[in-house]
Amino acid sequence: MSEKKSEKLWGGRYSHEIDSFVDEMNASIPFDWILYPYDIQGSIAHVKMLARQGIIKVDEADRIIQSLLEIKNEIDEDHTHFPMEDEDIHMHIEKRLIEKIGDVGKKLHTARSRNDQVALDTRLFVREKCLETGKLIVELQKSFLDKSEEYLDVIIPGYTHLQRAQPVLFSHYLLAYYEMLTRDFQRFVMTYRSADSMPLGSAALAGSTFPVDRDFVKNFLNFHWLSRNSLDAVSDRDFILDFLYSSAVTIMHLSRLAEELIIWSTAEFSLIQIDERYTTGSSIMPQKRNPDLAELVRGKTGRIYGNLLTLFTVLKGLPLAYNKDLQEDKEPLFDTVKQLSLSLRAMSKMIATIKVDKERAKEMLKGGFITATDLAEYLVKKGVPFRDAHRITGEIVAYAEKKGKELYELELEELKRFSSLIENDVFEAIMPETSVKQRKVTGGTSPDYVRELLKKAKQEVEWRAEFIKKHFQPY
Ligand code: ARG
Repeated sequence: MSEKKSEKLWGGRYSHEIDSFVDEMNASIPFDWILYPYDIQGSIAHVKMLARQGIIKVDEADRIIQSLLEIKNEIDEDHTHFPMEDEDIHMHIEKRLIEKIGDVGKKLHTARSRNDQVALDTRLFVREKCLETGKLIVELQKSFLDKSEEYLDVIIPGYTHLQRAQPVLFSHYLLAYYEMLTRDFQRFVMTYRSADSMPLGSAALAGSTFPVDRDFVKNFLNFHWLSRNSLDAVSDRDFILDFLYSSAVTIMHLSRLAEELIIWSTAEFSLIQIDERYTTGSSIMPQKRNPDLAELVRGKTGRIYGNLLTLFTVLKGLPLAYNKDLQEDKEPLFDTVKQLSLSLRAMSKMIATIKVDKERAKEMLKGGFITATDLAEYLVKKGVPFRDAHRITGEIVAYAEKKGKELYELELEELKRFSSLIENDVFEAIMPETSVKQRKVTGGTSPDYVRELLKKAKQEVEWRAEFIKKHFQPY
């Protein structure tokens, strides 16, 4: 019986067909096909360079490029059928190229290895996803700014330990998330930079023997740096860790926001209403409107953290240079990209459409002695040392509690029993409106400051949107 030789592109030294089970485990094409636009872009840069350097002929390069673009169209149109035996997207594209143009296609892989090829593709991918994520972050920030403006007049209880603490502007609260997202945006800019080094020319691990022009490829693909050590270049996945970490921090922020949306929309709080379009009903309880999207954002945090830990663990103890373990970087990365994008978009939609119950906010401010700090500070401003003022106020609160009254419901006479310095102006001082107005400090919740910050923030989001546009080069 005649032996069937391996049909793999790498099958030369094989005398047998490999076991089909190997494809089942070895193939990454079911998930890495999404790298095809980056793979083709990288190959075009490589082939142009090969022709410029006289390593292949110009007309050969032209045919290869033409055919690569056709393959891109093919995959754009149908990416549901990839043969498992093609292993990965890199081999699939090369095989298609050879099927289409024969021997000329076989020249594409000159001076290149899949090791530096995949290192390039994932860098191009991560760079682009940093910009896309940045764009989604800016959109969410815009929703926060619009809402802050819409509800600039609303005061809510601010919490510590989830106990009513001091009054804050609802807008001040929203702008706290704006700040978190600014740092998230910056983290994705840094991640972009960590992926911004061009590895091609490293070949399998030791560098190429051909007179390649690495600078040309670097400039053609708009990279900032050229990798400086071939072993490192083909095995470095730090930039993916950076992406996964930046994503983990962002989703952590979103999960906090999700939690607040969930509790604030309960009957117990009833402070906000999530728009009906972003809630779902229950199959058994007809009255229900559940905040599923917010819950899913909170829940997806688990897998996004997990993806970071997965890659950390894959990389731990890995010897130089390329090892097949590195193929395990892709599913966590692709999953995080997808889940974070969904979560950011869900949050933008929900924030843009939430409604605040202003009456309820006023109601909430009436309980919990929320301006007790203001009363203490009132005394300090009348000359009482802060520690004493704190104690006196504590006594007043205890007294009011016993009487079943709030601070503003006490008579001046009652208050005077605790300090003769208390005058009629105290009632103004302990109003929530006065409380927030007084907090004029940079970073505080006074309407003046918040309005000023809002103006700045509106400019900032425009700069960020410009920054993304400037760097964005879709393939
Ligand atoms: N699919 C592989 C990966 O994702 C591409 C690189 C394969 N290199 C190799 N020497 N087998 O890592």
